Amino acid sequence: MSVQTATSRDEIPEEISAINLVDTRTYLEHDMDAYWRRLRADHPLYWHPPVDGKPGFWVVSRYADVMALYRDNQRLTSEKGNVLVTLLAGGDSAAGQMLAVTDGRRHKDLRNVMLKAFSPRALSKVAALVRVNARRMIAEAIRRGEGDFAAEVASVIPLTTVGGLLGVPVKDHSYLLGLTKSSLSSDEADQAPEEAFLARNEILLYFSDLVAERRADPQDDVISTLTASEIDGVPLTDQDIVFNCYSLILGGDETSRLTMIDSLYTLSREPEQWKRLKEGSVTLESATEEALRWATPAMNFGRTALVDIEMAGGTIKAGDVVTLWNTSANRDESVFDDPYVLDLGRSPNKHITFGYGPHFCLGAYLARVEVKEMLDAMRTFSDGIELTGEPRRIHSNLMAGMSTLPVRFRPDEAGLATADD
Ligand code: HEM
Repeated sequence: MSVQTATSRDEIPEEISAINLVDTRTYLEHDMDAYWRRLRADHPLYWHPPVDGKPGFWVVSRYADVMALYRDNQRLTSEKGNVLVTLLAGGDSAAGQMLAVTDGRRHKDLRNVMLKAFSPRALSKVAALVRVNARRMIAEAIRRGEGDFAAEVASVIPLTTVGGLLGVPVKDHSYLLGLTKSSLSSDEADQAPEEAFLARNEILLYFSDLVAERRADPQDDVISTLTASEIDGVPLTDQDIVFNCYSLILGGDETSRLTMIDSLYTLSREPEQWKRLKEGSVTLESATEEALRWATPAMNFGRTALVDIEMAGGTIKAGDVVTLWNTSANRDESVFDDPYVLDLGRSPNKHITFGYGPHFCLGAYLARVEVKEMLDAMRTFSDGIELTGEPRRIHSNLMAGMSTLPVRFRPDEAGLATADD
């Protein structure tokens, strides 16, 4: 592990060195926009010092550097973890089995197997389900007039979507939702790490049972596709399948939920942009991309360097942990005009919300469908959105967003009349 490199020896101003990116409270208590601006401008490769007995790590903040490192799975690996919690603990027990923490030939083969489950036929079925669910749930929420959009709509759509893809029975959705919420982030600042650990184990146990059921009685769903798949003539093991179900449910649930919540919150605060959406002067596609850039629910992912890498005036040493900050790259002023302005008609909009390169998000198409259908239902059925209280923000050093969103809707009666069409 390196501690002495060109960049780490630089004089780091107090306002940078005082920020602890591992501590989940940091994101709620500090002006992180100012921090990222400063890092992009002056310390594009910054060595975050060790904290709380955990090793230090590199922080990469510029768009071009983040892209270059995402693309590079020769000099960097995901097999020692791809999120801070596992990277700083020294590894991920699902390495070589779960897609996101597998590299090389095995990653390519596994990704191809998983892509079968994401065939256009399977996806179009799920996309149709998303549309029906989004329209129904949003029409009901608007008819009720007010409520917590996070609990009543945004929590339900993503889990129903991934659940539908995986073949999870509807009766189990709320049980899984509770587990996914506590396994990645927390509504509470002081959730014990053991709680997250237990929640993750429960998800794995749940899927072990479901895999056994599908082996005995295959259905038209992802788990059954995986049970029938082989790599080099060797069938996937139960553990391979369970890890990847886990990764789909975690990858697909919280990220989409946080994006939907953030999008509605943002629209309630940006009347001009809401008007453009409502009147149809921006396309749903460009509004969706901007909502995704704006929310950037996955703040960062990480890698471990396999060899020394020279970049941005410094040297990443073999064995070092490197974190890639989507949050910062998506506001890089050298790529996005007025990055801190929400522009639902923004074009081009090459945001990095879904990552880039070999590990590019497998669920990007589905996530886009979810956000697009939510925006479409909202602009058709509602005439305006108002906050009725302060939303609660999540505590996480991986995800950003809100866990509650108390709102009141003005109904669009003409639009609502088409809700059941
Ligand atoms: C990978 C973000 C929705 C499944 C990724 C990565 C990002 C990301 C940044 C790259 C991770 C890395 O490079 O280490 C998001 C966001 C979403 C979203 C922001 C919603 C707004 C989904 C959905 C699914 C999903 C709906 C599943 C249905 C996956 C999987 C990977 C992945 C399996 C690993 C791909 C690989 O390693 O080859 N996602 N995701 N994601 N995502 Fe998503």
